[in-house]
Amino acid sequence: MIYKMAKVKIVETVLRDAHQSLIATRMPLSDMLPILGEMDKAGYYSIECWGGATFDACLRFLNEDPWERLRTLRRELPNSKLQMLFRGQNMLGYRHYADDVLDYFVRKSVANGIDIIRIFDALNDIRNLDATIKAVNAVKKENPNAHAQIAISYTLGETFTTDYYVGYAKQIEAAGADSICIKDMAALLTPYRCAELTKAIKEAVKIPVNIHTHYTSGLASMCLLKGIEAGADIIDTAMSPLALGTSHAPTESMVAALQGTEYDTGLDLKQLSVIRDYFMGLRKKYIDSGLLDPKMLATDANALIYQVPGGMLSNLLSQLKQAGKEDQLEDVLKEVPKVRRDSGMPPLVTPTSQIVGTQAVFNVITGERYKMVTKEFKGLVRGEYGRTPEPIDPEFQKMICKGEEPITCRPADLIPPELETLRKECAEWIEQDEDVLSYAMFGQVAVKFFEKRRNAKYGIDGKRADFENGVHPV
Ligand code: CO
Repeated sequence: MIYKMAKVKIVETVLRDAHQSLIATRMPLSDMLPILGEMDKAGYYSIECWGGATFDACLRFLNEDPWERLRTLRRELPNSKLQMLFRGQNMLGYRHYADDVLDYFVRKSVANGIDIIRIFDALNDIRNLDATIKAVNAVKKENPNAHAQIAISYTLGETFTTDYYVGYAKQIEAAGADSICIKDMAALLTPYRCAELTKAIKEAVKIPVNIHTHYTSGLASMCLLKGIEAGADIIDTAMSPLALGTSHAPTESMVAALQGTEYDTGLDLKQLSVIRDYFMGLRKKYIDSGLLDPKMLATDANALIYQVPGGMLSNLLSQLKQAGKEDQLEDVLKEVPKVRRDSGMPPLVTPTSQIVGTQAVFNVITGERYKMVTKEFKGLVRGEYGRTPEPIDPEFQKMICKGEEPITCRPADLIPPELETLRKECAEWIEQDEDVLSYAMFGQVAVKFFEKRRNAKYGIDGKRADFENGVHPV
């Protein structure tokens, strides 16, 4: 037993991934506020509370300023580390951004209260993560708690051997990351695979290893336990009322399972029980309102049978239904691994799962492979998202890209600085420095939010209000 002294640390996800997985990220800040004081006393290693989906839901559905939410969480959780999820060079948005925007976002996130930034890239291309690691390391002077955790997008397929993951883990450590996360967003990890992978990565790197997996196929707590025995330092869990199903393993159960062992988390079950009581109330409210569909809490091991993430499977089915071809699901499921091989074996995570899935559907329903090629698939094959895990056949690339030169450098190297342009574009709405970042990530969605914010401040018809003096015409 090499890791005998290990004490396991807990990342509490109830304020981010748990409600993202179960109720489409719709937990408003007002539902969090009453329990933050108790959560701050729990002794979690960190509390995950921010990311692309929370940011998007705040602006789009909850009419909340995500920055204001972060500042409030920081104020109400003075003793806890706050954690966010960050999609590498895509940041919280859906395209690659220039480094100046990325630097500014990292600086502002940390200044407003984030400690740990978990960063991942859909292709596991370390070049798409370098700029964020550098940006986090640059703010450490002023904010010593700032921590760059790089997440490995876990996936299945012949390319993704233990050696592949160990090689990537070594790149991550060499790039200056503070810790590594095995991120199994699609619940494809099994307990013994998790043990094997964790052990191999722990032997290859010195930085701590965190395991993130979902309960969808019913294996999460077994994966975590085997991972812990293999040396994992940190695990992600969710308070039980919003655990299980598409969410995570219950925090209390994991704490109880490890109590009194060499892996003891140090968390107090009585304190967790206080927090549980509060979230039971929210659970009931969400079920009663229809926000939480009990179906989300069921176990579904189909992902393991078809070797594609659950979300992708339901997308494929709905695309086929729209085309009136749902009888061709078997053909599409056979086509997915072929399209994936053609396009360099991308991990099947957002956005690559949609890109590969949609192309496979087209290949089947048109009756001719690559007769119709989506813009996104062409982008993936051309290298617009970065380097794929396997090289792409140049002949295939030529056929798909139709004369456009492939991109072999880091895609963001081709993007000139854009922060000043973005500032000009949204100048009329800016009320705080951070607004330009909301605009950069979510464009018109942010503008609609800014508009509502202005109307709330100055009266319903914002256009006629006198902004200088804050007077609303009667
Ligand atoms: Co997740």
